[in-house]
Amino acid sequence: MTCSLTRVKALHQAIHDDGMREDISMSQASIIAIDGPAASGKSTLGKRLAGTLGYLFFDTGVMYRAVTWAVIIEAMDVQDEVAVTDLARRVQIDVRPPSLDDQRACDVLMDGKDITWDTRTPEVEAIVSIVSTYAGVRHELAAQQRRIGLRGKVVMVGRDIGTVVLPEADIKIYLDASAEVRARRRYDELLGRGEHPNYLKILAGVRMRDQIDSTRDVAPLKVAEDAIVIDTDRLDADEVFKKAEALCR
Ligand code: CDP
Repeated sequence: MTCSLTRVKALHQAIHDDGMREDISMSQASIIAIDGPAASGKSTLGKRLAGTLGYLFFDTGVMYRAVTWAVIIEAMDVQDEVAVTDLARRVQIDVRPPSLDDQRACDVLMDGKDITWDTRTPEVEAIVSIVSTYAGVRHELAAQQRRIGLRGKVVMVGRDIGTVVLPEADIKIYLDASAEVRARRRYDELLGRGEHPNYLKILAGVRMRDQIDSTRDVAPLKVAEDAIVIDTDRLDADEVFKKAEALCR
């Protein structure tokens, strides 16, 4: 299935105009890209959409997080681009469907070891955006992501999926929300996991990652020209899901 701007625009129109929906005959999208800033709800939406469609859910952020975790474990200087890039080439990252029912969206394995929760720590979050600026790291990870994405029947989420990794995606969704709303959601998520988060620290972290992710030279976070933007400030997870699902059917 190829991506056509006209088709996406037609679908976009369709969700705003229920009367038109019947008139647009379409086959189901096979490659669905979801991009957006930190904590905009990409994983929540992506997981549910993939479950409903029977597709693979692939969160590309976990790969950048996995490399970052390895940087920390190997006590490497995160500013050493050559060493970090070499590390990204050396390690074997596997992302698999969840094997445990502990709120994880997927298993993240590095060289066979389960590092799923290690990748979600504040230490990783503090420097993951620096690791993600390195062209060699991105080249390595994006190639693996693209190979998986091109098999189709996939919902892939990240920062550059619609712009760089899978520009031919059938549907591109860009999820947005204010930094305050996103920080609040991340805060609630951590509370729900029994942690003791600090809202202001989370907000500062979200803003810092936004800044680095959207201004880097390689594959910066931006809205693909054929993406449909969903502003989620005033929408709950169910409402976002309904809008997105209507686009994909
Ligand atoms: O879940 P959250 O939105 O907080 O972050 P994530 O999706 O797990 O991504 C963590 C970091 O990885 C981001 O802040 C980006 O720096 C980087 N990333 C990226 O550069 N490109 C992607 N396709 C996915 C993540």
